[in-house]
Amino acid sequence: MSQRKDDHIQFALAQKHGSNDFDKMRFVHTSIPSTKLEDIDISTTLGPFTLNTPFFINAMTGGSEQSLRINEKLAYLAKACDLVMATGSCSIALKNPALNDSFTILEKVYPEGLRFANVGAGHRSKQVNQAVDLVKAHACQIHVNALQEIVMPEGDKDFSSWWDDLKECVEHAKVPLIVKEVGFGMSPTTILKLQGIGITMIDVSGQGGTDFAWIENQRRAQPLNFFNGWGHSTLESLLSVKGKTHVDLIASGGIRGALDIAKALAAGAKAVGLSSYFLRLVSETSLEESITIVNQLKEDLKKIMCVLDVKNVEELSKTAFICDQDLQYRVDQLINTF
Ligand SMILES: Cc1cc2nc3c(=O)[nH]c(=O)nc-3n(C[C@H](O)[C@H](O)[C@H](O)COP(=O)(O)O)c2cc1C
Repeated sequence: MSQRKDDHIQFALAQKHGSNDFDKMRFVHTSIPSTKLEDIDISTTLGPFTLNTPFFINAMTGGSEQSLRINEKLAYLAKACDLVMATGSCSIALKNPALNDSFTILEKVYPEGLRFANVGAGHRSKQVNQAVDLVKAHACQIHVNALQEIVMPEGDKDFSSWWDDLKECVEHAKVPLIVKEVGFGMSPTTILKLQGIGITMIDVSGQGGTDFAWIENQRRAQPLNFFNGWGHSTLESLLSVKGKTHVDLIASGGIRGALDIAKALAAGAKAVGLSSYFLRLVSETSLEESITIVNQLKEDLKKIMCVLDVKNVEELSKTAFICDQDLQYRVDQLINTF
């Protein structure tokens, strides 16, 4: 199992990312803003939480020696740059407490930080609450990764209890829940059905960045290559429900920098999660360099907001943008599916 986690890290780092749907969205330019850079406020709210930084380190690792080293560095980065951090799936530690260290390290390094635990769908509230206790988490992500499980050689193939399990978790989990995709995006039907069972925060984690079908296919003797590239992009998912849901949406999947973060917030996300970006950053640069780069990311976001004439994330969510025809066409078609 910890070998699987290390495989995921290795293949995620090997995966090439190019253009994605964020390149098909452009802001409407304001020639005469009325803002001042020093007045820009990038804080946001997500469910019951206030985040000083609207982007965060999304779920990745835990459960191996390599994960411990990565999570420790990420936790120091989160502390230095005031970022929320999510752990990778805690299921492995619930089965084998010897692997706890790579999860408890977050709280050890950054006790005052906001933390999300993570478990897979199919677990009941008992396991969710155990993961929350392990991480001393303020919220728990429940990842819905059916497609990944199908492609994963050793993956689960029975999803028949997932909706009932989720409903039970909504009733009995001790912290707020975030239902989260893993890079395949979420349809309006799924988002509204989750809203209907009482889920208040959803990470649409869309296609355009890390592709877990491709990663699992690298681990298969007979790859199911037709699943590569599957799903809805992060922007398709966000734009197809913009103004139609009261759930707090998180954008993740294919976020490459400050401009993508700004676009995701303008498309309706309350916060933005980055995984492969941070994995690459801490794998390739020192902690000091990583801190400088992330602080620059915050400054870049402020500059973009200033030129867009928006003072805060609330105003950014109402700013005007245009989309390329093919993106708009796909969003319109998705809207027609519910
Ligand atoms: C190495 C690696 C491990 C991951 N492990 C998990 C996990 O345990 N739980 C989860 O919800 N998502 C996991 N993810 C998925 C990410 O949280 C995210 O949804 C996906 O990578 C898309 O974001 P990105 O394009 O910024 O990487 C993992 C991603 C990577 C790169």
